[in-house]
Amino acid sequence: MTQDELKLAVAQAAIHYVVEGEIVGVGTGSTANFFIDELAKIKHKIKGAVASSEATAERLRGHGIAVFDLNQVEAMSVYIDGADEITAQGAMIKGGGAALTREKIVASVAKQFVCIADGSKLVNRLGRFPLPVEVIPMAQAVVARKLSAFGGEARLRLKDGVPLITDNGNYIIDMHGMQIEDPIALEAEINNIVGVVTVGLFAKQGADVCLLGTAEGVKTLK
Ligand code: A5P
Repeated sequence: MTQDELKLAVAQAAIHYVVEGEIVGVGTGSTANFFIDELAKIKHKIKGAVASSEATAERLRGHGIAVFDLNQVEAMSVYIDGADEITAQGAMIKGGGAALTREKIVASVAKQFVCIADGSKLVNRLGRFPLPVEVIPMAQAVVARKLSAFGGEARLRLKDGVPLITDNGNYIIDMHGMQIEDPIALEAEINNIVGVVTVGLFAKQGADVCLLGTAEGVKTLK
């Protein structure tokens, strides 16, 4: 199976977690895009969605799915999103698509985080994928120096030769070469650096369920 076929398989499996008549939280990225396309097929059964990025909102609206502002939503049964890396315990690195802050906010409202990922995303230890950190632009240099103390190499994410700007108007620093032994502790430590908006470690509140696409079919990790 190709990677896209695996992503489609987990997107289809995730539809079973969508609760009829409710608003569903929707992530960002290529796997989430497969999910949005599947969600469109049952759009008459849901009230709508909350999007974790402008790109996701645009794709949802393109399918005629109502997009709600999170401020209008008090509760959500499920948030469905991809990951850049995930452990069997549900800790994740996210933010390869620069949407980590809104992803973490929407996920925090949902009762259940369902991660959809192809098998290549499953790791024993997080850190081979560069760890994204969203920062306030004026704090970029000072935060990069402080992040370097954790052992990796801090690199400002660029797009077309200039700093990438997130949906929130901020920068992303990617931490390369991190050895993440304790994701929950590191998440808290990085969150405590002044100037950091969000770290792309989803460990304290990780995935409740991971639907993993493999050649043998979709595996469910809980
Ligand atoms: C977006 O910011 C990310 O957190 C994505 O969820 C993550 O990068 C996974 O994306 P893919 O599904 O494209 O691999």
